[in-house]
Amino acid sequence: MTNARIPLLIDTDPGVDDALALLMAFDDPCHEVVALTIAAGNVGLQHTVANALKLCEVCGVDTPVFPGADAPLVFPARDAAYVHGRDGFGDTGYVPASRKAQAEHAALAILRLSHEHAGKLLLVALGPLTNIALALKLDPTLPLRIKRCVVMGAAVTAHGNITPAAEFNIAFDPEAAHIVFSAFPKIDLADWEAVLAHGFLHEDAERWLAADSDRARFYASISAHTRAWSKQGRGERWHAADALAMAFALQPDGAQDVLGRPLAVETAGVHARGATIVDWNRQTGAPDNVNILMRYDQQRFEGMIQRALAAR
Ligand code: BDR
Ligand code: CA
Repeated sequence: MTNARIPLLIDTDPGVDDALALLMAFDDPCHEVVALTIAAGNVGLQHTVANALKLCEVCGVDTPVFPGADAPLVFPARDAAYVHGRDGFGDTGYVPASRKAQAEHAALAILRLSHEHAGKLLLVALGPLTNIALALKLDPTLPLRIKRCVVMGAAVTAHGNITPAAEFNIAFDPEAAHIVFSAFPKIDLADWEAVLAHGFLHEDAERWLAADSDRARFYASISAHTRAWSKQGRGERWHAADALAMAFALQPDGAQDVLGRPLAVETAGVHARGATIVDWNRQTGAPDNVNILMRYDQQRFEGMIQRALAAR
């Protein structure tokens, strides 16, 4: 019997909700974050890398940070600075981290770590799937070495958040998403529509953010812009997409309803580029390649966030 922690590799584009997910991962006693691989997405790569390094510094962890793709595979895409701030962390003007990023490219780091932790690695993708697609192009055997892959992305009935039909992470790089969803035999998916069903009250979040910890203080400051934006546009509940995906990743037994189905990514549509087409009635005969999170234990989810913010 071994108590070894599960190695966890997080591919991310921080991003305010990415940061909350990272706090949850750093706080989890059963997982060891072995690397952060970084893509452009919410904002440009320079900022997403700087934000990852800063968050590690605030948390006192020395997790290596690997910069990856600075653009989608094929077509340019619009970022989400209007949600996260121009620097992706609420434009607070924080002092940059003293530590630097690694020289190794994110895609190569993903492949190397998949060998070092073959059969054990939990891969969690919280941003556009560009780095993972690049890794798959370099080595299509990657999925064979991944124990579990969890993705935040998609809108399973086409209620998109960045276009009427598409969710941001998939719409940012649909070609990469197509590569990833075609390559992994099964992906555990926390989509945007699940996120909408698991919002938490701003007034609760404000209470959690008042915890006496550096993590809560830093997070209160970098999330102020996006919380104000969300309150104004979406009402009393705040939706932290990547945090829900991380809850599903860290504590899968908190899932109360999960549906397996085939999912394909639309890359060519005029109105629907980046949409994720779920074959709900299994008409295509394609194998189920996603486990779609429909419902997660809300109390458990909120408890994980609260603890992660209060951690020192
Ligand atoms: C996803 O898009 C990004 O803006 C968030 O960080 C999250 O990963 C939600 O659609
Ligand atoms: Ca993200």
